[in-house]
Amino acid sequence: MKIINVVGARPNFMKIAPLMAAYKAASGIQPILVHTGQHYDERMSDLFFRQLGIPEPDINLGVGSASHAVQTAEIMKSFEPVVLEHKPDAVLVVGDVNSTIACGLVAVKLGVKLIHVEAGLRSGDRTMPEEINRVLTDSISDLLFCTEPSGVDNLKREGVPAEKVFIVGNVMIDTLLKNKEKADESKILDEQGLKSGSYAVLTLHRPANVDDPAVLGRILDALEVIQQDLPIVFPIHPRTRKNIAGSSLAGRVKAMTGLRLIDPVGYLDFLKLTSSARLVLTDSGGIQEETTILKVPCITLRENTERPVTAEIGSNQIVGTDPEKIISAYREVIDGHWRESRIPDLWDGHAAERIVEILTERL
Ligand code: UD1
Ligand code: UDP
Repeated sequence: MKIINVVGARPNFMKIAPLMAAYKAASGIQPILVHTGQHYDERMSDLFFRQLGIPEPDINLGVGSASHAVQTAEIMKSFEPVVLEHKPDAVLVVGDVNSTIACGLVAVKLGVKLIHVEAGLRSGDRTMPEEINRVLTDSISDLLFCTEPSGVDNLKREGVPAEKVFIVGNVMIDTLLKNKEKADESKILDEQGLKSGSYAVLTLHRPANVDDPAVLGRILDALEVIQQDLPIVFPIHPRTRKNIAGSSLAGRVKAMTGLRLIDPVGYLDFLKLTSSARLVLTDSGGIQEETTILKVPCITLRENTERPVTAEIGSNQIVGTDPEKIISAYREVIDGHWRESRIPDLWDGHAAERIVEILTERL
């Protein structure tokens, strides 16, 4: 059985790594790995292949950055000949990025079965590009693998037949559990002069937060206060770096001596940074899940989440971008009022094995 597996952007790499390992351990599946090239910087792409032991992609489409329409169309144009040439039994896509929907559409239009890993997540916010990608990908998928009960409920509500939907746990957490010990060896704290438990980690890259200087300015209002108390280490996404560099906010960021901008870091260094942090401030999807497993307080700088289990039983609080709310959540953590988190069901490091078992049975 031949399966083409698609990756494109940073969060896809952690999701595909355990699947590639599980295919190898099982018999009967011939995986082909396609990288669309949506992300291409060494620190947004190749570093993760090396650190996570992901095999070299069989094919790199090299599409790079562009507007949504151009990027999605370029991926589709370059992916179609790959599917035609390799004639796979299925195409597997992960997550919710443009590469996910672009390759999903190509597959189903060629009559190839589509598998979606991390299906059913919904923020309910259709202004978010990823929400459109999620809804569309799920509506054309043949097998849908969910990480949490909300995913199954959402798909049921949208009329996806129950026999296509499986709750299997979380492949991103497979990667975390597998790499935790290795990450403990990382020297990033020494390199950055940080002491365990005495700093915060920040990541920001959602267009709604970083493309609008007014919103980013409000987040900076809160950071200005927090960084006076606690150093904040900020591995900055290229989108955000570009936006700040070209805006009137650059001076404010530079003036914050407690806010340390660094280049994006590799997976192992990032895991070390988050697992030793006092708290994490983020608008990332995956980091809400990782902090839940790590039991590190997570202040999510968004008005909603597509991963509600992290806020219901995990260590996550959805705070938004109002500076007062951010500062008050920060104080709750510092004052020790943060809720103890629990680990969601099936987030046990074996999601990829479950997926491969189901694929072997079903395809
Ligand atoms: C993409 C995903 C988002 C995901 C994020 C993870 C979509 C619609 N968005 O957002 O869901 O959370 O990846 O990080 O698919 N750039 C570089 N180097 C790179 C990659 C990007 O400099 O290697 C810069 C370019 O200026 C580019 C911008 O970042 O225009 C945005 O990249 P893009 O892939 O379009 O979206 P992300 O914001 O990274
Ligand atoms: N991550 C990383 N280095 C960084 C920032 C994030 O390795 O400098 C990892 C993080 O641990 C998680 C993933 O990248 O596994 C999350 O990706 P991102 O926030 O870019 O995307 P999202 O999850 O929001 O789609």
